[in-house]
Amino acid sequence: MPENSRRLLRRAVLNESGAERVRRGHPWIFRGNIMQAPQCAPGDIIPLEEKNGSRVAWGLWSESELCIRILSFGSHEPDQMTLLRRRAERALEHRRCWCPGDESFRWVHGEGDGLPGITADLYGDTLVLQLSAMGWYRHAEEVAAIFRKVKKLSAVILRNDTKHLEKEGIPREIKPLLGEMPASPIKAKIAGFDEYVDISGGQKTGAYLDVRAVPALLDSVFQGAAVLDCFSYQGHFTLRALARGAASVTAVDQSKNALDAAARNIDLNSLDGSRAKFVCGNAFDILRNLDAERARYDIVIMDPPPFSPAKGQLDAARRGYKELAVRGLRRLSSGGYMLFMSCSHAFSRDMLLDVLLSAAVDVKANCRVVTEISQPPDHPALLAAPETNYLKGFVIGVE
Ligand SMILES: C[S@@+](CC[C@H](N)C(=O)[O-])C[C@H]1O[C@@H](n2cnc3c(N)ncnc32)[C@H](O)[C@@H]1O
Repeated sequence: MPENSRRLLRRAVLNESGAERVRRGHPWIFRGNIMQAPQCAPGDIIPLEEKNGSRVAWGLWSESELCIRILSFGSHEPDQMTLLRRRAERALEHRRCWCPGDESFRWVHGEGDGLPGITADLYGDTLVLQLSAMGWYRHAEEVAAIFRKVKKLSAVILRNDTKHLEKEGIPREIKPLLGEMPASPIKAKIAGFDEYVDISGGQKTGAYLDVRAVPALLDSVFQGAAVLDCFSYQGHFTLRALARGAASVTAVDQSKNALDAAARNIDLNSLDGSRAKFVCGNAFDILRNLDAERARYDIVIMDPPPFSPAKGQLDAARRGYKELAVRGLRRLSSGGYMLFMSCSHAFSRDMLLDVLLSAAVDVKANCRVVTEISQPPDHPALLAAPETNYLKGFVIGVE
């Protein structure tokens, strides 16, 4: 086939909605945004053209509904691996500037770092990669090698067990790409504390790095406080509360493994574990029991899992958050604080404020916003893609 015809077949032609998305700088193109699909293999890098033939971007093709992840805007064809190296370097510089001193952080946060389909979490010198786009997955070894060129690493582990991989035709697998698979949880310094992190079996890539700096927001009120840490996972808030002199901490999570890890992390940091209590189970049930006991806390932390992965489930999410907020507020002593977070993409900051207001009205509590929580600098949201802004929260003071 002549070169010209091959090029014509290899391109994606955008319809009006697709062209508009590209103009706005959105990195995701869906099937409904194109009028002609390219003839190419999943994972190929392809040009995106408008109806009039003008070439406006380059992206990675995939067979799923989200069929193109844009890597670069403009007509110039990027070299995929050169682009990866440059963006990985830039992302690391950004972390060194905005997360100084951190040894564990998210090095690459997909779209926010211009690398849709890549999540890279660093724990000391171990990197955990999630490659959720075929265009990266099929070069997994090369991708790992590029990260190791940018920073000295002892191991790069592929942790591909997230949702939606099947739609991309990517197998679920957890394996070393470089170095050895650690036989047991590794030790990593996270926000000043030593933690055991199970990078192969723990939740996310082993830790919720996105909230690691949040517990420090309560530093000035932990001393002497009775703290309820709901959805504690392996204890970021619990560790900080104990270290800052909390009188007691009750950590609640449905994962026994997470609570066991929290207990080990307390020992690892030589903190006084006698002030900590662990309750394993469904937080909704446990909060009902605490209601019946009329237990009181000075600080209540609510960091639940996402309740509304999809827009259609917003009402259920609203009800879930409201119940937690009402029960949390009821457990507070006068003058106490509730820290409430949502990591649901589809649940906006204003929806969360609405829920908190409605809970305060039900409980007849006079609440004020002490401070607001948003995504940390190593989880950058992209202005052009509001969906990438997922983390929000508030600390509220209650009279
Ligand atoms: C967003 S993470 C919390 C992260 C944690 N605050 C930290 O500092 O790392 C949500 C946690 O909720 C737990 N979880 C999910 N559903 C739950 C439920 N119904 N009851 C109790 N815990 C639950 C998960 O095991 C997970 O540890």
